[in-house]
Amino acid sequence: MTPQNDLRTAPYTNPALPIPDRVEDLLGRMTLEEKVGQMLQLDARGDLGNLVTEKLVGSLLHASPERIVEARDLVLTTRLQIPLLMADDCIHGHSFWPGATIFPTQLAMACTWDPALVERGARATAVEVASTGLHWTFSPVLCISRDLRWGRVNETFGEDPHLIGALGQAMIRGYQGDGLTDPTAILATAKHFAGYSETQGGRDASEADLSRRKLRSWFLPPFEEAVKAGCRTFMLGYQAIDGVPVTANKWLLNDVLKGEWGFTGTLVTDWDNVGRMVWEQKVCEDNVQAAKIAVEAGNDLVMTTSQFFEGAQEAVTRGDLDEGLIDDAVRRLLTLKFELGLFENPRIPDGQQQAEVIGSAAHAQTNLDLARKALVLLTNDGTLPLDGGLSATASGKAQGRGETRTIAVIGPNADDQHAQLGDWAGASGQIPWLPDGHPRHLTTTVLDGFRAIAPDNWTVTHARGANIGHEIPDPAGPTLIDGQPRPKLFVPAGSDEAMLAEAVDTARNADYVVAVIGDTVALAGEHKSTATLELQGGQIELVERLIKTGVPVIVVLIQSKPSVLPQSVLDAAAIIEAFNPGMQGGLAIAELVLGLIEPAGRLPISFARHAGQLPIYYNQVRGQHGERYADLSQEPLFPFGHGLSYTTVEYSDLQLLTDNVTAHGQVAATVTLTNTGTRPATETVQVYIADLVTSVTWAERELKFFAQVQVLPGQSVDVKLSLAASACSLVDQDGQRIVEPGTFDLLVGRNSRDPQMLSARFRISQ
Ligand code: NOJ
Repeated sequence: MTPQNDLRTAPYTNPALPIPDRVEDLLGRMTLEEKVGQMLQLDARGDLGNLVTEKLVGSLLHASPERIVEARDLVLTTRLQIPLLMADDCIHGHSFWPGATIFPTQLAMACTWDPALVERGARATAVEVASTGLHWTFSPVLCISRDLRWGRVNETFGEDPHLIGALGQAMIRGYQGDGLTDPTAILATAKHFAGYSETQGGRDASEADLSRRKLRSWFLPPFEEAVKAGCRTFMLGYQAIDGVPVTANKWLLNDVLKGEWGFTGTLVTDWDNVGRMVWEQKVCEDNVQAAKIAVEAGNDLVMTTSQFFEGAQEAVTRGDLDEGLIDDAVRRLLTLKFELGLFENPRIPDGQQQAEVIGSAAHAQTNLDLARKALVLLTNDGTLPLDGGLSATASGKAQGRGETRTIAVIGPNADDQHAQLGDWAGASGQIPWLPDGHPRHLTTTVLDGFRAIAPDNWTVTHARGANIGHEIPDPAGPTLIDGQPRPKLFVPAGSDEAMLAEAVDTARNADYVVAVIGDTVALAGEHKSTATLELQGGQIELVERLIKTGVPVIVVLIQSKPSVLPQSVLDAAAIIEAFNPGMQGGLAIAELVLGLIEPAGRLPISFARHAGQLPIYYNQVRGQHGERYADLSQEPLFPFGHGLSYTTVEYSDLQLLTDNVTAHGQVAATVTLTNTGTRPATETVQVYIADLVTSVTWAERELKFFAQVQVLPGQSVDVKLSLAASACSLVDQDGQRIVEPGTFDLLVGRNSRDPQMLSARFRISQ
């Protein structure tokens, strides 16, 4: 029989057989070399022939559109023709597919506090990604952002475990659709498991100073929620915790994830985690020892450590590593491939489907819905909405009130598609095939947005006003020790008199100024943590000069993470936080400023007044001398949960259904919201729990429930609040999550530090 005929009759190619039988048949045919190859996920930008036919990889990442097809063809030349798992970081849209829909970043999406909408965005991403021959996205990030200097804050859902858990579950549902046999489903990844964000000084991937108890208290819960949502893959953090690299952490991977939580999916390391144990963390002598440790800790797929191929085989040959453990990992990987149906349908790129779904009008609408809801109104002296708010015509344009107006859209991010899309999008530096990013016309910048929808008799003018900075090659060399491109150095721009003068002149001739400032992708991402949080370059001087003109200035922040805002910005008529709002962001911002939509976003992260206040997250453990620094308050600039409306909403009449529940019961209450202003509101009711006396020190308050409610002007709405008493838990001295019977306060308000927070006391009994 020819090898082809042999394959056709092999039980593993028979879709009628149960998956476990097919897996065992295939596994039984594989050589050690083929099995170790299956455990490799290598960078498709390398020599593809070598990767697929020599290293026998089970998975590839970062494949360009052409290489996705090439890789599939190469697989057909291998002995067993095991389909590849094709993966990439499609983390707020299909990041590196030309013309794909790029959504707001995760941090911006988190401002919606709207799991259903986030799920819709992830679904759209999955549909686009699946059409291109990729099976897997490395998303969502479930890290908790506590140090704003960290370069990857933009990739997270912010600082709160409950909000992260809810939005993470939504994203996983969106990606994985109706299950793995759904041809539009892609695998989701809960990452970076766990504690990766707990950096030292914000420095990316530094050792995390975390006890197991602290992990269980705050860092693990969102990941446990991901398991409950059926997330099929987990990616490990780079870092070590208490001396043990996550890659080698048997307690975390086996005892907790697979044991306690019952995770049966696939574990992928992060970039060269196994190699890093040798050359960076220096806990292994060589790649043989590193391979042994990684396999024994339960890793399935080894990202970009090509030496694992030789190392793992050598470890088995020497008798240091039990081949049975390799079999276990390969079994899990093959099961996943069979469950995806890749042996029957390798889900290769589908041109017709791509034409229908990539960047489709329906996805643009979902993107606009997300961008609209993600905008957070931080301050407003009443200037917004402009002219008391305009209405939209059928074409989406604003209808003026008769007066002619000039609106000056000024600032370095007013017309910058890259800043608007943020990291992991087109030209953000991870891949080479989109040097100029996504097609420019797909992104509506803020300037584009005003030009598109300002009333016909309004004039929109523009000046850049200032630069933020530029990048220069790092004198240390073009690549890092792991072969990755070495990030460039950021050099802040100085103030430019001519640009400032032009901006001031433009402002003086306007009725309103919209100043769009923030940061750039050069200040966001892996290896791009910042030592400071200040607005860079000539931006502060620009805003100062604009404010001095006396023309009302609306500041729009397009930035990857919260920056420290100078007094000039705080003196502005209004501040809108947009983070990286995606392709439709500029349109959404113009609509908000003109009053065609209402502000609805809430901050998923606290803003600091100064980097020295870090960490500034709201749910800190109680106990310290005093409540401020001698030279600065300890209050955040804007608290977690903050966000204004164009109206006022009063909270009243908080009533518990019962003030005594058991630990298995439900805490239920109602609160009345009354819209006392003149515009409709989308109000996010936030419920925090304070456990009055705890056996261990614990957070002063924690978010446990939220609900979004529409309240029309003059209307009163009763809102039902409900949470399981089991959520009122803590992690005790022994590391057990328990509910301690006792007295609790149910706190209901607009944000985590609402001075008018309503409170109701209840007891939890055994
Ligand atoms: C490293 C990053 O930490 C991770 O988030 C990403 O998914 C992988 N590289 C693959 O690009």
